[in-house]
Amino acid sequence: MALLIDGKKISTEIKEELKVKVAELKAKGTEVTLAVIQVGHDPASTVYVGNKKKACEFIGINSLSYELEDSITEEELLQLIQQLNEREDVNGILVQLPLPKHINEDKVIMTIDPKKDVDGFHPQSVGKLSIGQKGFVSCTPAGVIQLLKRSGISIEGKECVVLGRSNIVGKPMALLLLRENGTVTICHSKTKDLKEVTKRADILVVAIGKPRFIGKEYIKEGAVVIDVGIHRDENNKLCGDVDFDDVVDHVSAITPVPGGVGPMTIAMLMNNCVESTEA
Ligand code: GUN
Repeated sequence: MALLIDGKKISTEIKEELKVKVAELKAKGTEVTLAVIQVGHDPASTVYVGNKKKACEFIGINSLSYELEDSITEEELLQLIQQLNEREDVNGILVQLPLPKHINEDKVIMTIDPKKDVDGFHPQSVGKLSIGQKGFVSCTPAGVIQLLKRSGISIEGKECVVLGRSNIVGKPMALLLLRENGTVTICHSKTKDLKEVTKRADILVVAIGKPRFIGKEYIKEGAVVIDVGIHRDENNKLCGDVDFDDVVDHVSAITPVPGGVGPMTIAMLMNNCVESTEA
């Protein structure tokens, strides 16, 4: 029977640890404050933003909420970010993505002060990660590393295959696994003979964005599988990029969906907010 990597439990442990840290910081006179900006009313974004604010409340982080209409101009949004950059009482700035089409996401990300870039999306944060300097790391891949470490799964020397090459997950994931001394391969939808590549993995991280795409024919027996995907299937049931039922008896450890990687993203965002007081 495969080990089920319990992201809900591990994320709660991290949040409890952060709660203690935030109380210690408060006792020394340091408050932690996150500004959360949402543009428009995308229902998924509203759920994510709500969960982020709830996590702040649990830990003792102040959250400032900016709920902006779709009609806001790019210039107005950039001005708000600049004001937040200048405020000494704001440690972290998060702009929920995606943004409406008339707003250039890259420009928005570039405007956030790298010292307050708790999402780890700014090119300076990405650059620091790639050359091994300290900086904010994208929350989902950082959460995957914590899931592995806190489940006692070592990365050093392992064949690690990352399926997916997004800026938010795949690329930083590969860099983090490399930093942990894994032997890392990135593959994607255009990779020739994908199965041959994914089957090499001791640790397979799947972030391809296709519901139940990965069955056991893609996986070496006894591999560790981390499923970053989250979808609703035709019966409105949540599922990942991995066909969980097909692979569960074939792997040594796996993250379920829901309750695997998902809760870790917010825990790592909270961790970055606490770290931002040191930036
Ligand atoms: N949209 C989906 N995931 C994320 C995330 O991690 N951060 C932000 N800012 N937007 C998102």
